[in-house]
This record gives sequence, structure tokens and C-alpha cells, in this order.
Amino acid sequence: MTEPDELARLACEIAREAGDRARELREAGVTVAGTKSNLADIVTAADREVEALIRRRLANARPDDGFFGEESGVAEGVSGVTWVVDPIDGTVNYAMGIPNYCVSIAAVDSGIDPDSWRVLAGVVYAPAQRELFSAWRGGGAHLGGTRLSVSEDAFAGALLGTGFGYDPATHDGDLATIRAAMPLARDLRRMGAAALDLAYVAAGRLDGFFERGLQPWDWAAGSLLVVEAGGRFSRVDRHSPRPMTIAAGRELHDRLVAVVGQGK
Ligand code: IPD
Ligand code: CA
Repeated sequence: MTEPDELARLACEIAREAGDRARELREAGVTVAGTKSNLADIVTAADREVEALIRRRLANARPDDGFFGEESGVAEGVSGVTWVVDPIDGTVNYAMGIPNYCVSIAAVDSGIDPDSWRVLAGVVYAPAQRELFSAWRGGGAHLGGTRLSVSEDAFAGALLGTGFGYDPATHDGDLATIRAAMPLARDLRRMGAAALDLAYVAAGRLDGFFERGLQPWDWAAGSLLVVEAGGRFSRVDRHSPRPMTIAAGRELHDRLVAVVGQGK
């Protein structure tokens, strides 16, 4: 296995190339290529092209590693490292012309079972803002050259981020969760790209984040950013159909677990 800092450097290089390609494709115009779990869950031609680019670059650089991607599936490796990739997180924003989308790439230290992962390196790149968030285990989290810290002092109430699943049947439950969290909040954001929400928690731009039903490629890179920025990241109810993801500084994290960590 290679050192986490080397994995992070490779992820940064590939995420920049992939994100810049996504931005170019966006500028050329977006077409929806299909739907996935339901009509709201779309995939664009760019999601597929960008994941193929990332997969190719990783296979060239590290042919023995595994791959776990949103669009092109899973392949076990033999090196002990698996790459977890969301080529475009925030696809609906991307398709609608809202610049809040990102590439998310993580390297984990085991196979294809997310419950066994220790994240070694995590990179989230937002190409429209040209912001690169990166972390490696034990090396801190950075935005460009600036070291990141989560916020610890949400004295006026917390600025919270959240999201909804694509299945309309889950919306009532998600709204009930938001109602439970609001006493802790000064305000709430639903920005549409969970990996970037987690990067924003790492940067102290959001005090905390919670969402049910995220997929591994949504949280893998962002979880390390949060932890390396001094915060806490949890997946609660992880064997339910829609586990709850919670990220924040230590105190707010524990309060969020208490108020939104129960339920379905
Ligand atoms: C989605 C975004 C969104 C979150 C959804 C995710 P996608 O990912 O992260 O913010 O609320 O749960 O599925 O489909 O844009 O990669
Ligand atoms: Ca995606």
C-alpha cells in the first residue's frame, strides 16, 4: 500500500482534470442521458464520461487497486486500496446550471464493503469555484494551501446543511427530521451536493450536516475532510435502508445524533 499523502496527491491531480472536463462539458450544454432509481434521479452523459476518465487515470497509475464508482460499478482490487468515486455529485444542480457540484474521490484501505473502510485520502473538487478540498489520514484537511478547521462555536445557533433522497416517499420523513433539528439551527441550507456539504463542514462554512440515505461515494471523501479538520463524522442506523449521516464539530455532532439519529 502507498502512503496516504501520495494517494491524496494522485486524487487531487485526477479530480482537477475530471472537474475541469465536467465544467467544459457543462459549458457546451448538458443532456440527460437517463434515469436511475426514479425519475428525479438523473444521469447525464457528463457523469459517465467523467467517471470513465477517472477510472482510466486510476487504472493507469495504480492497476492493482479496486474501484467503487457511482456510474460504472465496483471491481475488487488486489492491493488493499479501493477508490470510491462520485464523478459529479450534485448532478441535478449540474443539469439545471447551478454551479454547486463537485467531483469526489476517496482512497480507502480495504475492499468493497463500506462498513470495513478506513478512508486514507479524500478529495472534493468544485470546478465552478475552482476550489480543491483535500485530506489524507493524519495530514489535516486543506482548501488549496489553507489548513481547515470545523467550527466549534455556533453561538447564534448552527448553520446546518441537509438533503433529501430522490424517492418522494421519503420526503415526509426527511421533513420530520428537519423539524427535529431546527431548534439547534440559526438557519438551514439544502445546497444539493452532499460531498461538498461535508467539505463545507470541514471548512467551517456549515456548522453541521445531516442526511438520510446517502451512498458511499457521497460521503467517503467528505468524511475524512471533516475528521481531519477536527470534526466528527458518523453513520447512525447503518443497517437500516436509509442510514443517517451526521457531521459537525464534537459538541454539535453529539447534539445532532441525539435529535436526528433516531427513526427510520
Ligand atoms: C445527490 C446529492 C444530493 C443529495 C442526494 C445525493 P448525486 O448525489 O449529493 O445533495 O441530497 O442524496 O444522491 O445524485 O447528485 O450524485
Ligand atoms: Ca453523482
